Amino acid sequence: MDDPDVVRACNVDWTGKVVGGAHFLLRPSSSAQLELILMLANRLRTPIHIQGGNTSLVGGATPVNSDFILTTSKLKRIRHFDSQLGRVTCEAGVTLGELSEYLRGTGYHFGVDLASRESATVGGMISTNAGGIHFIRHGGFRDQVVSLDLVTPAFGLISASSKYLKDNTGIDVGRIAIGAEGTIGVVTSATLRLIPNSASSYTVLFGVDTFSDALEKLRFARQFATLSVAEFFTYDGVVLVEEAIGARVPFRSRYYLLFQFDGGHLMEQELSDAFRNIEGNVAVASDAVSAKKLWALREHHTLAISTLGKVDKYDVSFELGQIEEFWSSANKRLESLTSSAKAYIFGHLGDGNVHLNVVSRLSSAVVDEAIIGLTLEMGGSISAEHGIGTLKSGYLSRAKNDAQLQAMRAIKATFDPNGILNPGVIF
Ligand code: MLT
Ligand code: ZN
Repeated sequence: MDDPDVVRACNVDWTGKVVGGAHFLLRPSSSAQLELILMLANRLRTPIHIQGGNTSLVGGATPVNSDFILTTSKLKRIRHFDSQLGRVTCEAGVTLGELSEYLRGTGYHFGVDLASRESATVGGMISTNAGGIHFIRHGGFRDQVVSLDLVTPAFGLISASSKYLKDNTGIDVGRIAIGAEGTIGVVTSATLRLIPNSASSYTVLFGVDTFSDALEKLRFARQFATLSVAEFFTYDGVVLVEEAIGARVPFRSRYYLLFQFDGGHLMEQELSDAFRNIEGNVAVASDAVSAKKLWALREHHTLAISTLGKVDKYDVSFELGQIEEFWSSANKRLESLTSSAKAYIFGHLGDGNVHLNVVSRLSSAVVDEAIIGLTLEMGGSISAEHGIGTLKSGYLSRAKNDAQLQAMRAIKATFDPNGILNPGVIF
C-alpha cells in the first residue's frame, strides 16, 4: 500500500511531534504473511517499523529510520474464549475497546484499561507492557499475558501459545517480547488472563490542599483490598479539562484523588461507613453516569493539555515520598530556564507513577535535560509505563548500568541479528 494519505497518517505520532519518512505500508492479514515479510526483510536487510494503534507517546510507533511500516491492523480475530479458565486468545490488531466489547456479557473483563482504549492494540500494548489505570490492582500487561506468538527475524515464528494455564517447560521465550517495543519480534497473537466482573463499583473524588494530605488519603484507601484505581491530578490541570470538554469539577482544591473500588455486594456499605467521617472535599458517584463524569476529569488531561501547543511529556516513577520533591524541583528548574514554561502533573499516584507535561517554547532537548536529568539524579525511573521509544533512547545509557545494557543488546542481536526491526527504538 502506498496511498500517500494513508501512509502519511501512519508516519505521524499522536502528538504530531514525531514525524517519520516511510513510503510504504505493509498490512499482512495472517501470521503466515507476516512471517514471509519478515523473512524477506531479514534476507534483504531492509528495516521495518512495526505499528499497532499508533498511540505511543515516546515516538515508539513512528518510522524514523525505515521506509516500510508494518501494521497489525488486519490481524483482528478473537480466536478463543475460555469461560472456565477465564482467558481469551486474540490476534495482535484487536483494540482494547474491541476486546472489552467482545467480553461484554461474559462475566469477565480485561485487567488493563487506559484512555486510548479505542486505538491501542493488544500487540502494541504487549510490546510496551502498557500499565493503565488498574495497575494498582491487576498489574500491567505483563501480568495479563498467559502466552503469545512471536515472529522474529532470526527464528521465524516462535509459537509460545501454550494450551495450558500452567506450563513450566523451559525458558518462556515469548515473554521476552513483552516491553521490548517491537525490537526483537512481532507479536501476532496472545492468550490473555481475564478478571471476573465485580458485583459493585464505588467511585469517589477527594480534594486536598497539601501533598501530604493526598498521601494520607491514599494510605487510607489502600487498606481496602477492593481498591482498583488511585489516580491524581491538580487544579491547574482540571481547569483545562473543564474548558476542553465543558465539564465541572465539584469543588476547588489544590490536589485531587480519584479512587475506584470494585468488589462484592457488601462493599458499598463498608466504604460509605468508612468514608462518612472524612472531612473536607469529597464527591461520591451515586451511579455509573456520575462516576463517568468524575472519570472524565482525569481521563481528558492528555487531550486538554495537548490543546496548548508543544508539550514535552515525561512519564516517571518514584517512591511516593519523593514525588512532591520532584514536582517542586521540576518547577524550579523550569523557572530557571524561562518564565513562560508551565508544567502539569497528573497520573497514577497509587503506583508512584506521575505524568509531567511541560508546555513551553523551549527546545525539547533543553526540557528533556532538565526533567529527565532531575529524574535520574533523584534515582527515579524515566519511563514508568510509556516505554523508551525514539524520544527517550538517548537517555537509556544513563538509566541502566553496563551489565543491563549489554544483556539488552545481546538479546536484540540474537533475535534480530541484522537490526531490521524498529531501528532507533530503545537502542
Ligand atoms: C495517562 O495516564 O493518561 C496516559 O499515560 C497518557 C499521558 O501520559 O498523557
Ligand atoms: Zn498513564
